[in-house]
Amino acid sequence: MEFNIALLKGDGIGPEIVDSAVAVLERTAEKFGHKFSFTPYLIGGCAFDAAGVPLPQETVDGCLASDSVLLGAVGGPKWDNLPGNMRPEKALLGIRSALGLFTNLRPAKLYPALRDASPLRADIVSQGFDIMIVRELTGGIYFGERGKRTGKYGEEAYDTEAYSRMEIERIGRVAFDTAMKRNKKLTSIDKANVLETSRLWREIMHKMSEEYPEVEYSDMLVDNAAMQLVRNPRQFDVIVTSNMFGDILSDEASQITGSIGMLASASLGASTRGMYEPIHGSAPDIAGQNKANPIATVLSAAMMLRYSFSLAKEADAIEAAVDSVLAAGYRTADLLGGAEGTPLSCTEMTEKIIEAL
Ligand code: IPM
Ligand code: MG
Repeated sequence: MEFNIALLKGDGIGPEIVDSAVAVLERTAEKFGHKFSFTPYLIGGCAFDAAGVPLPQETVDGCLASDSVLLGAVGGPKWDNLPGNMRPEKALLGIRSALGLFTNLRPAKLYPALRDASPLRADIVSQGFDIMIVRELTGGIYFGERGKRTGKYGEEAYDTEAYSRMEIERIGRVAFDTAMKRNKKLTSIDKANVLETSRLWREIMHKMSEEYPEVEYSDMLVDNAAMQLVRNPRQFDVIVTSNMFGDILSDEASQITGSIGMLASASLGASTRGMYEPIHGSAPDIAGQNKANPIATVLSAAMMLRYSFSLAKEADAIEAAVDSVLAAGYRTADLLGGAEGTPLSCTEMTEKIIEAL
């Protein structure tokens, strides 16, 4: 099969890790008889430098015309003092919205070979965990009305959270369907003891749960969920939550795997076109040094094959190649932590994965 993939390499280590994923995709295409073509577009700080805006229209149009999008990372200290609407992060929100990517899938799974890297006690993680966070991505406080005004105490700033029935229902549908394909357990996380949006969220999720009698459904308040994630992460299978709670909880979930450099993500909408990116950021401190761990981006490419192109066995092959490279003891610097051993560079790790394919 033939697919056109838009590449948004972005800033910092973005270009290095996207190049790695492209090399792995090319090898996969060769092995399974497909053709992938790649077109790069600017996004983030590099786009601001070249075009004066973090998200040029050409980038939006290019992504819309592609079959799917692979993103590296955006941002860096160089652009931290730009006004809000020119910041690299704004481009990320802009492209999510422009592509209608209302679902964000963030798997947080403990790799057996990397168990010692988890900051949680051995008895908590000894049996591993495998969580899928379904985060709503184009609504809530990220996209609500905001501004500055004069309030009771003078100058104030405000952001607002709004969720429509339609937005909650469509993310709920994805979450229940995802649970059906996994271990049929879904936890909806909200703050229904305080927020009106959460009360509507909870009401709709409850109603929907009646359509999925096989799914063991429960809801949990977000503060408790933050605590439960470190107390007993194994209790979770699929989690569904709002944009901001999902942002926060997915960082927590990724950290307890001990290997944020390993975690992939998929952003999906109503069509098969998605955007795939590693969970970690642009790591400006190691940019351009060939030290970055490419695995999260490689696994994001595998998710693209699975979710956008329905190439499940190709995705399995990439994931198996990563597993075998880790099982053989190969590590990039971030995975080595303080342990002894010689870390592989970004390109060396990529080579190992390609060999294993
Ligand atoms: C993420 C990031 C973004 C978000 C930022 C960079 C806007 O933290 O993808 O989790 O908050 O969604
Ligand atoms: Mg985040």
